[in-house]
Amino acid sequence: MLVPAGETSVDRIGHLETVDDEEIARMLLRAAGRAGGASGRRDSLTSLPGMEPKIALALDPQGRWNRCVDGAPSTHILKLSREAGSATADTIDTEAAALDLARRIGLTTVDAHVATFGGVRAIVVSRYDRIASSDGVTARLHQEDCAQAMGLDTRNPDRKFQFGRSLPSLLRIAQLLREGASEPDELLRLTTFNLAIGNTDAHAKNISLLHPDDGTVSLAPAYDVAMHLHADVPGESAMDIAGRRAMRDVTGPDLLQEAMSWGMPARRAERVVAATLDELRTALEEIDRDRHPGVRDLAWRTVEKRTQQLADQLAPVQRAARPQGRAHATQPRRPKGSPRGGQFGTMHRSEPDPEP
Ligand SMILES: Nc1ncnc2c1ncn2[C@@H]1O[C@H](COP(=O)(O)OP(=O)(O)O)[C@@H](O)[C@H]1O
Ligand SMILES: [Mg+2]
Repeated sequence: MLVPAGETSVDRIGHLETVDDEEIARMLLRAAGRAGGASGRRDSLTSLPGMEPKIALALDPQGRWNRCVDGAPSTHILKLSREAGSATADTIDTEAAALDLARRIGLTTVDAHVATFGGVRAIVVSRYDRIASSDGVTARLHQEDCAQAMGLDTRNPDRKFQFGRSLPSLLRIAQLLREGASEPDELLRLTTFNLAIGNTDAHAKNISLLHPDDGTVSLAPAYDVAMHLHADVPGESAMDIAGRRAMRDVTGPDLLQEAMSWGMPARRAERVVAATLDELRTALEEIDRDRHPGVRDLAWRTVEKRTQQLADQLAPVQRAARPQGRAHATQPRRPKGSPRGGQFGTMHRSEPDPEP
């Protein structure tokens, strides 16, 4: 939020105005330029970037949706669905499912569902960059996306995707985390997850950093993650993994290679990747698919197969690392995320590697 010099954003609390479903539908269509009325109205101004038309609303303690006027903080982001019948019409459905999976394995705190407002379909996601206090006041938490942190203008497609270039890169994000006193383990977990679910769109603007007041930097919860490989897409990863771009060709060992290029010890990388895949397999078994009716069987099967394939590719590496032949039981891990905004990053900061 930009405020005049000398003012803090807290000085500007603005106010909320209740909106009904019909008005939410109009706001969504206005954001897409598909409805009359002034666009860029003061009440719908938002600094949120991204390709998809979206609006920000606040859910009040009574469960009503509100427009945020004059700088009142929003609590949720609503993103319009692609056109019904288009090849990517299920993107918001697979996004809600992917966020459900990510939440189950502790990679996000975001709560997401698909809803219809006055006949207009949208995904509703809770904001992780908000802290709700018991007196009902919502505070903002500073986040910065990685393209911004790298100084890249992603309106230029040559700067948005890596595709063999030096930037953007996962390596640079790992460095940014280290500069902020965080180990890149969560980045490796997120990268493993994105590869397994076939999220081709994990570019630097879809990965963010949290800047809590103590000056540290940590990885933000996962957002804008979706399944893409079941659709007929080239399947190019927005950022290279171990120098590879074709997502279907990236292997489990490539993930280790990538993490080692960030300076992570091999055994540690292997443990992180194996545990993430293991947790994801369990999440895929346990997730309630009836809650995601817009996700086709083919999409689920594609993710299941890929998760298994990556785990199988890793198995020989794991065996070789344990020559005594003692089976290594991956410790089941409870989801570490908390539904409270703002706590995620600090809770996940990794301990130093116990291994030499
Ligand atoms: N749950 C969330 N909490 C806070 N900020 C978010 C959340 N989801 C998205 N954002 C921010 O909004 C931007 C746009 O949202 P995103 O879902 O990436 O939209 P698009 O599909 O248009 O890229 C993101 O780059 C991120 O900065
Ligand atoms: Mg995005």
